[in-house]
Amino acid sequence: MTDKSARRIRRRITAAAAATAAASLAAAGAMMFAGSASAAETLGASAAENGRYFGAAIAPNFLGEEGYSSTLNAEFNSIVAENAMKWDATEPSPGQFTFTGGDQLVALAQEQNMEVRGHTLVWHAQQPAWVQGLTGQALHDAMTEHIAGVAGHYQGEITSWDVVNEAFEWDGSRRQSNLQTQLGDGWIEDAFRAADAADPDAKLCYNDYGTDGVNAKSDAIYDMVVDFQARGVPIDCVGFQTHLSSDSDLSSYQENLQRFGDLGVDVEITELDVGGSGSAQADVYRTVTEACLNVDRCTGITVWGITDKYSWRGEETPLLFDGNYQKKEAYEAVLDALNAA
Ligand code: G3I
Repeated sequence: MTDKSARRIRRRITAAAAATAAASLAAAGAMMFAGSASAAETLGASAAENGRYFGAAIAPNFLGEEGYSSTLNAEFNSIVAENAMKWDATEPSPGQFTFTGGDQLVALAQEQNMEVRGHTLVWHAQQPAWVQGLTGQALHDAMTEHIAGVAGHYQGEITSWDVVNEAFEWDGSRRQSNLQTQLGDGWIEDAFRAADAADPDAKLCYNDYGTDGVNAKSDAIYDMVVDFQARGVPIDCVGFQTHLSSDSDLSSYQENLQRFGDLGVDVEITELDVGGSGSAQADVYRTVTEACLNVDRCTGITVWGITDKYSWRGEETPLLFDGNYQKKEAYEAVLDALNAA
C-alpha cells in the first residue's frame, strides 16, 4: 500500500469515526431530550448531527451583502466556489495563477469552521482562451500544470476536489471536448494522478449532471470507477450535481447513490437545485435529502447557491431561500428530513 492510499484510508476511518461519534451523541441527545424539542435549527447543524455537511456554492462578490453573508454563516457548514476556482478564474494566462476569490472563500470557511469543496480542476467549459487553442502534448502539459498549480496552492485546505467535471454524454460515451479529442481516453486518469500528487489528502471526485438515477451516463461513470479501482488510479468520490425540476424522476436516485457507495467511494450531492415552487419543489428536495441520509457513504449535500436572486437558473426559483433570504417551503422540508434522521 502506498503512503497516499494509507493516508486516504486513515482519513476515511477518521471521518467514519466522527460520523459514528456524532450518531452516538445524537442518539444520546435524543434519549436525554426525549419528548422535548431538541431539533437542530439550521441546515449545517442538523447535517452535522448526522455526520454530514450541508454546503452552498458561493460567489465572493456577494459576500458584502448582509443577507447573503448572514444566511451563509448561519445555515451552512461547507462552501464551494461557484466560479472562483475554475480554470479561467485561476490561470487566465499560462502559468500566471490568481487565487483572489478562492482565497477569500477559504479564509472565510476557516474563520467560520466550514469545510471547503474544490470545484473544478478540469472541465470543457470555462477554459481560458489560451487553453482552447492548445493541441496534443501542449494541452496535456497545460492540464497537469494547472492541476499542480491550483490543487498545490490549496493543499490541505480542500476536503474534496471535483478533479474532472462533466466528461460523459447522456449515452455514456465520452464527451467530444478538446480534452478528449486531443488527449484520448487517458486524460481523466492523468488528471486524477496529477491531483493526487498535488494534494494527497484531498478526496478526489468525478462530478457530473444527469446522473440522478441508474442510466447510461451513470453506468459509464460506474464502470470508470470500477476500472480505476482495478488499476490503482486514485479516485475517492463521485459527485452527483443533481440539477432537478419538480417533476424529475427520482425512482432510482437512492439506488444509484448506493451502488457507488458499495464500490467503496464516497458520494456527494454537489450542486443541488430544483426548479419549481411550493410543495412540489419541497418534495423533491426532501427525497434527495432522505436519499443521502439513507446512504452511509453520502457525506453531504451542497446547494448551488443561497438565494433564488443569484441562481444561474433564477427564473426557475430553484433554491432554498427566496430573493429576500426568506426560508421557502423547500427549506423546511430539507431541515425536517435532516432532523428526522
Ligand atoms: O465574471 C464575468 C463578469 O466579469 C462579466 O461581466 C459577466 C458578463 O456576463 O460574466 C461573468 O462571468 C459569468 C460567470 O458565471 C460569473 O457570473 C459567465 O459569463 C457565466 O457563464 C458564468 O456562469 C457559470 C456557469 O457555471 C458557467 O458555465 C455559473 O455562474 C455557474 O453557476 C455554473 O456552474 C456550473 C458548474 O460549474 C458545473 N455544473 C453546472 C453548473 C451550472 O451551469
